Formats: sequence, structure tokens, C-alpha cells
Amino acid sequence: MSEHVEQRPSTPDPAPDPDPAGDTPVAASGGDPGQPAPSVQVELKTIVELCKQRGIIFPTAEIYGGVRSTWDYGPLGVELKENVKRQWWRSMVQLRDDIVGMEQAILGPTAVWQASGHLANFNDPLVECASCHQRFREDHLREDQLGSETAEGQLTCPACGKAELGDPRNFNLMFKTNMGPIESEHSAVWLRPETAQGMFVNFSTVQRATRRKPPFGIAQMGKSFRNEITPGNFIFRTREFEQMEMEYFVEPGSDEDWHRYWIDERMDWYVELGLRRENLRLREHGEDELSHYAKRTVDIEYYFPDDSMGWSELEGLANRTDFDLKAHQEASGQDLTYYDQVNDQRYHPFVIEPAAGATRATLAFLFDAYRVEQVPDAKGELQERTVLKLDPRLAPYKVAVLPLSKKETLTPTAREVFDRLKGRWMCEYDETQSIGRRYRRQDEIGTPFCVTVDFDTLDDRAVTVRDRDTMSQERIAIDELEAFLAERLPSI
Ligand code: GAP
Repeated sequence: MSEHVEQRPSTPDPAPDPDPAGDTPVAASGGDPGQPAPSVQVELKTIVELCKQRGIIFPTAEIYGGVRSTWDYGPLGVELKENVKRQWWRSMVQLRDDIVGMEQAILGPTAVWQASGHLANFNDPLVECASCHQRFREDHLREDQLGSETAEGQLTCPACGKAELGDPRNFNLMFKTNMGPIESEHSAVWLRPETAQGMFVNFSTVQRATRRKPPFGIAQMGKSFRNEITPGNFIFRTREFEQMEMEYFVEPGSDEDWHRYWIDERMDWYVELGLRRENLRLREHGEDELSHYAKRTVDIEYYFPDDSMGWSELEGLANRTDFDLKAHQEASGQDLTYYDQVNDQRYHPFVIEPAAGATRATLAFLFDAYRVEQVPDAKGELQERTVLKLDPRLAPYKVAVLPLSKKETLTPTAREVFDRLKGRWMCEYDETQSIGRRYRRQDEIGTPFCVTVDFDTLDDRAVTVRDRDTMSQERIAIDELEAFLAERLPSI
């Protein structure tokens, strides 16, 4: 499975070249593992702190000490993550006539995971230290200590430093539970470890209901669960996460062309939504890391500019051949072929799969948007400002309505402005603290526009609109405000 080859964050290779202009070109295909990484460094802990302070993402049940590597999305985080998913759905489903959506139940029967190969193969090699009893992924230790996941040599425990690691054993990553009051093998159900299988087991039902002919796709977004041995790096690798996957069913023989097509499409999606191209690259899977179903897999990697992360997988694009449809046909006894009326033939379509992580992409968008700038204040003195230059489509709030003061005289007009905009865009109304501080706060959470209602507004029925990126301010009549913003906020 491609799960086995997913690249854990690793230190960048080779050391980043300084590139002050930040315009290092990226190969659009083929991958280039030696490509220099951009010079901008943002530590993961800076992003984690910002997320907590601003109510974006924070540990689950923190008042009870939290649950390791499980995160809650706060008022802004849920907007941001949903916007990432909305943009994926828009580009994959809404704007295309060859892809339809679906949503599968998270709990699934044993039969599905037996046929898919997950029960037998969805394992990671686990080693335990005989001295301190900590457990690790053996392939990760090999890469860290010996240079590659398959290198031979003595491993030491990263926790206590002793060379007392036991033999590796396979650890299945699936979460199992029981349906109903009686626990038995018959009542066992599994939390899905990927969304993909929903599209394979429902292939014929969806194809017939929607009357689609290959090439066509079925898309799904939602939660997946993996009992990762070494989760970490904030929301990069967690046990509960969200995926955005699309299975594209094509005629055998056309699969390689469609694979290339989807690699380019998916790369462009990240760039079009604001990730800097120089922070993205493609990486071809070697023969030894290909999943059992895959003919070819290419990862889109992002350069997470933290020392412990570097180039890491954002999305895997696999040519899964006809493996899954054939496996489910054999196990279920149901016909999962497509009947091509024109040529009077039946075949199992090949599948091209762009498999992205919604939560992982959210982290990449946060990193890429994060900037610290020196900007002059009213006296011309340079001040630092932190700004999230998120694409407006991803920004949690599109507009903040800020009455200059809390005085009651301004409140009705400020509320009127808020009411006029809130039906169209996610807006925030904020009347606390000085206006300067409120601007800084909106910059930090990436709000593209601040609308200030001041005492002049009471006379001229106009407001000041401040642009997050340029910090320029314009006076706009309240009656023209919606049209002004609509021109600047892309359709979502
Ligand atoms: N259906 C194929 C599949 O699931 P995968 O490479 O294992 O392939 C696809 O997963 C994407 O899901 C990854 O590229 C990553 O973005 C995301 N993902 C996988 N495991 C994850 C985890 N433990 N935490 C967060 N995201 C994860």
C-alpha cells in the first residue's frame, strides 16, 4: 500500500541553498530529490504557538493533559480546514463533469479490509527497547541512523541510547471496534484507514446511477484513522486525520497518460491556491517502495521549512491498475466490470488515484502563508508584523468589521455593515482593543480585508477598507462596499 512508502518528515537534502529571491524553479514532473530548498525558515513551534493563541488548532482535551498527537480545530481552524476541503471539492467535483462525489461510512466490515489487503499488509515494523521499553518504527530508525530505511547496521534506542532494540514485529495500523453489545469476531468493524476503498466497493452502484463512462472519477473527503507508531510534527502525522481522495477509472492502456495528467493537475492546484512553487517538488517511488497494487507512484512533496521536517509527502499519486476492483469482485462475488456498449466488451477499469491529506495540506498552507515583515508605524518607525498571507479563498474570515470605538454611537452602523456582508462571506465583528491591535490580530489570522467604521461614517456613510497585504486604505461608500469586496474576493 502507498501507506508503507509515505515519506516521514526528514531533514532536507542537501542543505538549503540561500535563494533570497525565492524564485528557484521547480521541475513540474519527474522529481528532483537534490533540488535546493528555499531559504526561509519558520519553526514548527512558531506555527503551533500561533495556532493555539489564535484558536486555530490546539491539543484535544488539554484540560486533562491532552491525548498524544490528537488535535482539535478551533473557530478559525475549522474554517481554514473546511476551506481547503471546499477548494478541493470545487476543483475535483464542482468544476468538472467527469467526477462525482460520495461519502462512505467510517465504520466498515472485515470483508472490505480483507479484500483490500489492509488486514494482511497494512503494517509497520515495530521495535521495542529492552532497556527503557519505548517503541519505535524500525524503518524510521534505520533512515535516521544508517541513512536509508533498508540499510543494515546496529541501531540504538533514540530515547536511552542503548543498543538493546529487539527484533522488529509487524504492527497493524487499523483501529478495530465492535458493533452492538456483544463483542465477537462477527461483530468486529474497523475505522477506515483510507477513504479510497469506499469508491471501489461502490464503483458499480455509482457508475450505474450516474451513467458515467470511463474516464470518470469518484471523489471523497473525510476522516481516516491509523494507529501510527510514531505520530508527530503537529498535524502532519496523526492517528485521526482527514483525506481528500479521488479514484479516476480509465480504460486500460490509457492509464499512463491519465497518470501524467493528474500529476500536473494536482501540482497546479497547490500552486494556484498559494503554495510557492519552489516549495513543491515531485518524487518518484523506487521499485522497492511501490505498493503491491501500484504500477507507478509519484508523491507531491512540500518543503516544510522546519529543521526537523524538510521535504515531506503532501499527496501520493498512484496508478493502482485494476487491482482493487478485481480484488473486491473476487471476494464479494459481485461483477465490478464496466460494460463498453460501443465495443461490446467488459473490462475492469484501471485506476489513477490522487490521494491528498486535508489536515496535512492545511499545515502546508499555514507554513507557506506565514510571514514576519518590518513595516513603518504612524511615526515612520519600523515595527514587526506577523501576517498570514493566505489565499482569500482559504482565509478563515474574509472580512473583519471594526468600529473605531465601542461607543454606542458607532454600534448601529457597524452592525448594519456586518449584517450586509455576513450572508455572503464569513465575517468577524470585533470592537475590543485599539484599532492598531485589531489590525495586527486580523493580519495574524490572515483576514484579507478590515472594514473600519469611524465617526466620519456617521456623516458620510463611508468606511475605511484596509488591505491585508498592502496595508493600503481606501474610503468606500457603504452602499458600494459589497461590490468593492466582491471584485477582490474570488468566488468560493
Ligand atoms: N489511498 C491511498 C492512501 O491512503 P497514503 O499515501 O497513505 O495513500 C494519502 O495517504 C495522504 O493522506 C498522504 O499523502 C497524507 O497527506 C495523508 N496522510 C496519510 N497518513 C496520514 C497521517 N497519519 N496523518 C495525516 N495525514 C496522513
